[in-house]
Amino acid sequence: MAMTKGNGANVIDARWIDTSNGMFIDITGLRERDIERSPGVWSCKNNHRYRTDELWPLRRTEFEGAEAWIPYAFDKVLADEYGPKSLVTEEWHGPKMSPTEQTVFRLTAFDGFENLQSFREPIPKPSVGEVLVRVRSVSLNYRDIATARGTYPLRVKDNVIPCCDMAGEVVSIGPTTELSKAPDLVVGDAVLSPVCPSWLYGEDKRLDGLDFTLAAGKQDGVLREYIAMPVHSLIKLPPCKAPRDFVQWAATPCTVSTVWNAFYGNTPLKPGDTVLVLGTGGVSVTALVLAKAAGATTIVTSSSDKKLDFAQSQLGADYRINYKNTPDWAAEVQRITDGKGVDHVIEVGGVGTMHQSLAAAGRGGVITVIGFLTESQGNLPDVTMTALVKSLIVRGVAGGSKQQLEEAVKFMGARKLELPVDKVFAFKREDIIAALNYVESGSHIGKTAPNIVVNLEDMNTSKYTTP
Ligand SMILES: NC(=O)c1ccc[n+]([C@@H]2O[C@H](COP(=O)([O-])OP(=O)(O)OC[C@H]3O[C@@H](n4cnc5c(N)ncnc54)[C@H](OP(=O)(O)O)[C@@H]3O)[C@@H](O)[C@H]2O)c1
Repeated sequence: MAMTKGNGANVIDARWIDTSNGMFIDITGLRERDIERSPGVWSCKNNHRYRTDELWPLRRTEFEGAEAWIPYAFDKVLADEYGPKSLVTEEWHGPKMSPTEQTVFRLTAFDGFENLQSFREPIPKPSVGEVLVRVRSVSLNYRDIATARGTYPLRVKDNVIPCCDMAGEVVSIGPTTELSKAPDLVVGDAVLSPVCPSWLYGEDKRLDGLDFTLAAGKQDGVLREYIAMPVHSLIKLPPCKAPRDFVQWAATPCTVSTVWNAFYGNTPLKPGDTVLVLGTGGVSVTALVLAKAAGATTIVTSSSDKKLDFAQSQLGADYRINYKNTPDWAAEVQRITDGKGVDHVIEVGGVGTMHQSLAAAGRGGVITVIGFLTESQGNLPDVTMTALVKSLIVRGVAGGSKQQLEEAVKFMGARKLELPVDKVFAFKREDIIAALNYVESGSHIGKTAPNIVVNLEDMNTSKYTTP
């Protein structure tokens, strides 16, 4: 069955094609100049059929005095050409022509990856002050392993949607923040969500602050196709021209905000400082990239010579230590620094590495306590005496604020910094479980992102692929 919704100005003629699965929409009849200007309808010339979930939802638009129903994706194009005032938009209240459901992954228990189950759930409607974000890419962190295994130290809600890192694009704006009232965010903008969307700036002194972290406490996470989020919590990204850009940015929120907090939340990192990072996981590689770009000298440890090669050749690490071959790696750090020790330690190991981190730190240094990867070797360090003698700052950090992430995004955008994304997985249960296994195996360097762009065709026809 085909249905036509025409419009007086003969601007847009959209035919919905009710195929057996009701999934396709065919946009034809756009004026030539609109076709040329609109990346979203680029392949109309080839009669390309778009999935409705790519174009949905539609909005009623007054366009040159006539009614037209257009996909949200065209709003920006039309606004660019005619200015926001020429667009009067309204939600589509007609028959549902596209899926109103999305795929959502939940952990149904906390004793293994097999508990990751896929569900079909309604796509949320953005309410007052919210926008609906189409998630384009999600990245994994060690905490996702710990959550699935039941070892994550924070409380996690039952049947949680896991993962806290995503990058996506705005697909609709809630009732009170229409195009004209939300100058910072419009439909089509690429956005990043902080891990704790309600921690906007400053120190998080709320007693229940950690309850409002994505995929922890009372909050669901981002392993889903759509999420409604408060507009003020989102960070606008530099234009994302390709799906790969979403993969890159999705790799940043958790580790980048944490590392930015470690470097700039208290005693700031300065050019010329020496930074020690433990291992080559997500946090440490992020610290390496940001420290190098800030003009610091960097020392990286790893259990693998191959990873150390990568850290030096690709990420510019200045010094390397294999902590398996050199169990007393703190002594090696002291040798490298001529007995001065380092200014910043990114401490991700926890009780099993803390005694050596204390030994590697220099006078007046900062040890940022971030991770808990190791267990006690029975040699718990005397933190008090070492901190006193060396005038150390030993500072725990739990993530970072929106402001800190925003500063980091600005820095990374300006310097064109990228975090290494080790592998990209599909948004399918088996693939995501494979990604979790991959992270748990420790084979990766940096970040692992299960890319949830639906399929390659969508990637090729996305407006972001158009130059
Ligand atoms: N506080 C926060 O806000 C915050 C934020 C993010 C992460 N974290 C925590 O920080 C830790 C790291 O997270 P991640 O995402 O970076 O993990 P990850 O990507 O899984 O990285 C783990 C890496 O740590 C290294 N490692 C393991 N044992 C080590 C040891 N004994 N000495 C030195 N390095 C060792 C290994 O590097 P090699 O393979 O090179 O040996 C391993 O690949 C986790 O405990 C995580 O929960 C905390």
